[in-house]
Amino acid sequence: MVKVIELGYLGLNVTDAAAWRKYATECIGLQIVESGQDDRFHLRMDLQHHRITVHETADCDDLAYMGWRVAGQEEFKAMQKQLTDAGVDFQVGTPEEARERHVLALIKLKDPSGTANEIYYSPQVDVMKPFHPGRPLFGNFIAGDQGLGHVLVRSDNDEETYNFYKLLGLVGSVEYRIPMPDGNFAEPCFMHCNSRQHSIAFGFHGMVERLNHLHIQYSHLDDFGQSHDIIRNQGIDVAMQLGKHANDQLYTFYSATPSGWLMELGWGDYVKPETQEHYAGDIFGHGVEASGYGMDIDI
Ligand SMILES: [Fe+2]
Repeated sequence: MVKVIELGYLGLNVTDAAAWRKYATECIGLQIVESGQDDRFHLRMDLQHHRITVHETADCDDLAYMGWRVAGQEEFKAMQKQLTDAGVDFQVGTPEEARERHVLALIKLKDPSGTANEIYYSPQVDVMKPFHPGRPLFGNFIAGDQGLGHVLVRSDNDEETYNFYKLLGLVGSVEYRIPMPDGNFAEPCFMHCNSRQHSIAFGFHGMVERLNHLHIQYSHLDDFGQSHDIIRNQGIDVAMQLGKHANDQLYTFYSATPSGWLMELGWGDYVKPETQEHYAGDIFGHGVEASGYGMDIDI
């Protein structure tokens, strides 16, 4: 079975590109890479040409697509056969689309909730251009072969969603079982494809938009702390306060992006247990502060 190896890039549809330019550089420290087109720009976090493309749109603030990398050309062919054998529809991207994404080739498909996914190989790596953060950083971002971070996406049917991403080569399980006030349990599922504890999560029900949050990780605690200061000083909503997750053991907080969904900035060293386990809550913190962001459960 061929497997994807990282969540390599994301496309975001945003209505306020100017706000995103300011937020991405000042609050997070990402580097802007101009696309040469008026309706989009890229965000860079390591030596790859970019990790995020911000598309300015009139009326949409949500995830546009996510790109999963396979190791090379042979794995790319094998993935197409794997999908065909499983009866999953996909379209082969045009050479123009591959150039637009700065990869050698891609295919396009949708997950069971209709979220656009792409699978590609050979991203453009600008080894001749050092990463230059959008604001001074003590360190850098944890990316490279761990991919850009993780996303929590909408899932209309968790079993179908799990089976789709399992077909792409991700593995995972329910890692929290959180009692809800109505007597039910929230059981979010977390899936990984490399040493990052998870690249995608789902299972928070009631979501309307495709993306609840994007997680980006710093190498240095002081950069994480300064981002927290900047976000607090700018009066940006914090949906979940500083805290430490039980599963990936990262120190994180969740704040609003200019698009209304959340950015989970984080720092720390994660621990991945050898065998499956689950948790009823986090280690500390992560108290809900601002409501209305889909995080109004106490983990
Ligand atoms: Fe997260």
